Amino acid sequence: MKGVSMTQLKFPEGFLWGGATAANQLEGAWDVDGRGPSVMDYVTNGSHHSPRIFTYPERPDRYYPNRSGIDHYHRYEEDIALFAEMGFKVYRLSISWTRIFPNGDDAQPNQKGIEFYRNVFLACKKYGIEPLVTINHFDMPLHLSQKYRGWASRDTIEFFMNYVTVIFNEYKDLVKYWLTFNEINLVTNPFGSLLAGIPQDDGASFFSMRPETEAQRSERFTALHHEFVASAKAVILGKSINPDFMIGCMIAGMTGYPHTCNPDDIIAAQQAMNFGNFLCSDVQVRGEYPGFAKRYFRDHNVTIDLTPEDEVLLKEGKVDFYSFSYYQSHCVSVDPDILKKAGNMSFGIQNPYLKASDWGWVVDPKGLRYYLNEVYNRYQVPVMVVENGLGAVDVKNEDGSVHDDYRIDYMRQHIEQMAEAVADGVDLIGYTPWGCIDLVSAGTGEMKKRYGFIFVDKGDLGDGSYDRSRKDSFFWYKKVIASNGTDLE
Ligand code: BG6
Repeated sequence: MKGVSMTQLKFPEGFLWGGATAANQLEGAWDVDGRGPSVMDYVTNGSHHSPRIFTYPERPDRYYPNRSGIDHYHRYEEDIALFAEMGFKVYRLSISWTRIFPNGDDAQPNQKGIEFYRNVFLACKKYGIEPLVTINHFDMPLHLSQKYRGWASRDTIEFFMNYVTVIFNEYKDLVKYWLTFNEINLVTNPFGSLLAGIPQDDGASFFSMRPETEAQRSERFTALHHEFVASAKAVILGKSINPDFMIGCMIAGMTGYPHTCNPDDIIAAQQAMNFGNFLCSDVQVRGEYPGFAKRYFRDHNVTIDLTPEDEVLLKEGKVDFYSFSYYQSHCVSVDPDILKKAGNMSFGIQNPYLKASDWGWVVDPKGLRYYLNEVYNRYQVPVMVVENGLGAVDVKNEDGSVHDDYRIDYMRQHIEQMAEAVADGVDLIGYTPWGCIDLVSAGTGEMKKRYGFIFVDKGDLGDGSYDRSRKDSFFWYKKVIASNGTDLE
């Protein structure tokens, strides 16, 4: 292993190597077998330079890429067999809420949806792959958004619990690992209102900064609070159904460095980490709002309907482990000139020591070690990296090969840093790189921003055979898993 120190770098026995996907980005079959529409089905494609937009009603001249995904709904057996060939120990996927409850507030669940995921889990079991299920990954039934304002309404907690009750009971013997909400902390950011199902104007842009009134900000934090309560209730219910369940939170891990050693930059970076990362996990791992959140609410006139009953639930429904996605780091500065130059970058200022991907995501493997230490020192619970990877353009050759050495390089460096963190004492239990099979990009809706070990022959507008083929990284990752992370060459 490169970059060795005197301590031998290795991963613990039983380390969970695997990969991650989300229903809305890979299943397709959006209106098949009784599935109802979700908000993401009404988000168009975009690109690095033109935002995806939410439209309702749909526009005949626009393409909605999540509706077809990579047609995993009809090809899951082939896909899971490929994961097994790489030696996956764990497969992170999400359940589509509207396959189980098409409108979200239906009296009865959709049996076809229940059957689909049972078959997926049985396919995993056949290969000895442990499923890791995200209960909600950017997934709000359109009907709940339109009728109730999504998570802004307390009623949504009850609808969510109906869904959770069904999936926990149906799959209690097939699934042990669960995550409640994907990247819940994105809702601390104004663009998170769409993810929280708060109705958007026709044409609203997805994933970009947007102005907000004070009332809208309060509504967004109220929605986030309802997600916290729902998460806690899910943990409590899960433990009563199967005490062996391991239920985690899932945070978008954003490492923020001070741009300089000016104490103002240091404080600004600390506050950015607190607010952007730790607010949500403090609630979900420690069971209460941290002081800096209360201060922010006071200073910004944010009101949330936190009841005494909620406070008890948050304390009782603490998660068992901390999981997060990690792609990049950024710098934080208070210098108005630097801020002006950075323009409207949502995630801060670029680090002059690091390079960015073709989509402007700054590659920083050491930031992963830093982040792992930060969260483990703070919470002292098991940690899992449930997303990481390089979104890049791949070229498929005539013989079906894809030479993605840049991806191998990216992953090697990140795995080395995870091993460093393990040596630092972090209780790291698993790694599921993002988009282990090419799928629709959440941020841009493109197919050409690929993360997979498996190439999927689909273009940005849905063209192609949807055939699967193995990239060079497929064979490399297989070796990594077989050697438990010691053979990274
Ligand atoms: C995470 C999400 O934010 O990043 C995934 O949980 C997403 O859904 C991934 O796909 C990568 O982002 P993008 O925009 O490159 O697809």
